[in-house]
Amino acid sequence: MSEQGSRIPGFYRLTVEARRRELCERAQLSIDDLTTLEHGGLDTRTADQVVENVVGVYTLPLGVGLNFRVNGRDYLVPMAVEEPSVIAAASNAARMVREGGGFQAEADDPIMTAQVEIVGISDPDAAKKRIEREAPELLRHAHAALPRLAERGGGPRALEVRTGIDPGRVIVHVHIDCRNAMGANMVNTVAESLADRLASLAGGRSGLRILTNLADRRCVRVTARVPARALATQDLAGTAVRDGIVAASRFAEDDSYRAATHNKGIMNGVDAVVIATGNDWRGVEAGAHAFAAASGRYRPLAAWSCAPPVRTEGDGDVNHPDDLVGRLEMPMAVGTVGGTLQAHAGARLAQRLLGVTSATTLGMIVGCVGLASNLAALRALATDGIQRGHMALHKRQQAVVRREREKPKPSVPPTSAR
Ligand code: MEV
Repeated sequence: MSEQGSRIPGFYRLTVEARRRELCERAQLSIDDLTTLEHGGLDTRTADQVVENVVGVYTLPLGVGLNFRVNGRDYLVPMAVEEPSVIAAASNAARMVREGGGFQAEADDPIMTAQVEIVGISDPDAAKKRIEREAPELLRHAHAALPRLAERGGGPRALEVRTGIDPGRVIVHVHIDCRNAMGANMVNTVAESLADRLASLAGGRSGLRILTNLADRRCVRVTARVPARALATQDLAGTAVRDGIVAASRFAEDDSYRAATHNKGIMNGVDAVVIATGNDWRGVEAGAHAFAAASGRYRPLAAWSCAPPVRTEGDGDVNHPDDLVGRLEMPMAVGTVGGTLQAHAGARLAQRLLGVTSATTLGMIVGCVGLASNLAALRALATDGIQRGHMALHKRQQAVVRREREKPKPSVPPTSAR
């Protein structure tokens, strides 16, 4: 994509058809490809193969998050969400971040963790030692359970034994590099394949064998630096808005009730991309909130502060100390292969629009959209309040609802007549 590839001024004023044409020019897509989206990218017959008791499909609006620059590259970000203003707000915040050079992001290796619970153990410490002694053999066995993953460079990496949660119970974690898959099926396969051997080594019975959604070895970390001038509103100077955002962030640090809403704002962006790209948003949600509470107190996943000046190497530039700096860290269990993608043409198309095949890159972009959504929400809350922008878009949505209600209903014969 070109230097300005995700910057499309006036995109929101175009018709849907013109927006599609614009995307075709910037991404490797044709108009025919984009027509897939006309019915949400999933038909009832395919849906019937995916879940049970199918009676139809349920669609969401799909929009494009603009202005995203991540580690120096531009991305057009697919977002599936029903809440008005989420896409506009994230795009607007990404434009502000762009003025500070864009998002910087990094990601852990795509490690997911299998949990095997073993119960009825009389001496957990001795059981732990026996299992740890056998770790290399157990990992070889786990590798053999996932031969195709090893061919792709992934596979089980380490084994960890936890005791002390409950007398008589030992929990074994197997950490598995899932490469470009979210990995739930592979991780559960390993958990089940090791359970009997682990139970026998521990001298107990195997209990639950399943992944943990607290994927804290698969985190993304995102930083954004925003020049204060980019935050200014009609009524407020950029530095005043920046200070309001920093105060709002501190409120979330201090109060779990506020942290929950702060994190909801982050998940507005995160879920929209996770859903659009065919990933398991319940897993990402569970991981996010467990991570937020991991210290024993529910905390914000992103925080904002005033920037200390930074001298960039070489040319002697000094970033302005008025800058606002945001940081987000959260687990990000997303994949670019497997799962819904096989069945869902819309999700496949969304990934092509994004132009990403690596799960870790996808995870970093998702994190950036989360941080952008958070910035947009805090800026609105610290200035006009959330309702002004939100209500304008809400009115538009209500007009659509009224139109739908007024449409003549197809006549359905009474049940007894069918
Ligand atoms: C609304 O969907 C999200 C916000 O409540 C987030 C926040 O308060 O930070 C605006």
